[in-house]
Amino acid sequence: MRVTIDALEAAQALANGHLAALPTETVYGLGARADDPHAIAQIYVAKGRPANHPLIAHLPSIESLDDWGKDVPEFARKLARAYWPGPLTLVVKRTNRAGDFLTGAQDSVAVRISAHPLMQAVQSELARITGDASVAIAAPSANRFGQVSPTSTDHVQEELGAFLAAEDVLLDGGTCGIGLESTIIDCTEDHPRMLRPGAITIEQIEETTGMRCTHDSAVRASGTLASHYSPRAEVTLLTKKELEKADYTDAAARVGLLASADIPTPIGLVRLAEPESVDEYARTLYWALRKADALELRTVLAVPPPNEGLGVAINDRLSRAAHPK
Ligand code: TXA
Ligand code: MG
Repeated sequence: MRVTIDALEAAQALANGHLAALPTETVYGLGARADDPHAIAQIYVAKGRPANHPLIAHLPSIESLDDWGKDVPEFARKLARAYWPGPLTLVVKRTNRAGDFLTGAQDSVAVRISAHPLMQAVQSELARITGDASVAIAAPSANRFGQVSPTSTDHVQEELGAFLAAEDVLLDGGTCGIGLESTIIDCTEDHPRMLRPGAITIEQIEETTGMRCTHDSAVRASGTLASHYSPRAEVTLLTKKELEKADYTDAAARVGLLASADIPTPIGLVRLAEPESVDEYARTLYWALRKADALELRTVLAVPPPNEGLGVAINDRLSRAAHPK
């Protein structure tokens, strides 16, 4: 795998049927041309992911939505206009352009447009090289199946360095600004249904569509399996009060703490992160979980932020990380 800062090099790799790990504003994705079954097969191999798990197609433009999605309802168009490019994925009925190898043979397809400037540059270079204005890039998060999503190139290398081919590319776009995967909204029924919380909140979806948004954790979304986003260390959730009551003097530097900056570190714990805001909590969460593994900690104690706004997505990922494997 070659590391580059050149979007054209990544686009050329994709055009030639290779993989490219790409920066987005949420997390790094492992990309392949969305209409290339052989390249997509390599994604599943590199990730060690079951082949029936559907991928997100990253579109080059809002105009290309109807090339991939069919019978797209007005409320989905409103969401696309309001939040694209941005951290929002829409699940819509698919056209023939979205093959079984992309959608896990479902009759729907997940689509989004990333706001990361390098990702956008790759999309437009790929459209130019292929002469296809609606060419999409299939990209799941660039981690091994069930692991924590990568938010920097170091993390991508840790996860996939050993599983990518010499012709594959890693496009260095720095650290991801949001740090948690996109919000997923299923738009295949008569109202929006949230499959995965993210930086776009349920309140924003309701405000934009003027409709009630239900929160369904569908089993078909791999990010919605109970145990997912897990480090090797055991993750335990607790309240600030519970943290203050316990004695950690015997923790022997094997127990980490993840809590907002206003919560002091009890003696005996290894402080992993002390975010000053809920945005910073989201941005540093996966980094902190990886650090726990790098330090070979036994346990991570996490005090979740309030379960509102972006805090809903953080609570969702923390409770999955805490779920027994
Ligand atoms: O922020 C993100 O969404 C990142 C960046 C790289 O774009 N991507 C990402 O992809 O998180 P992935 O594959 O790790 O998660 C996509 C989720 C999976 O849980 C998958 O099951 C779900 O989207 N999904 C994809 N197509 C679907 C469909 N047709 N219906 C329901 N869920 C779908
Ligand atoms: Mg993932």
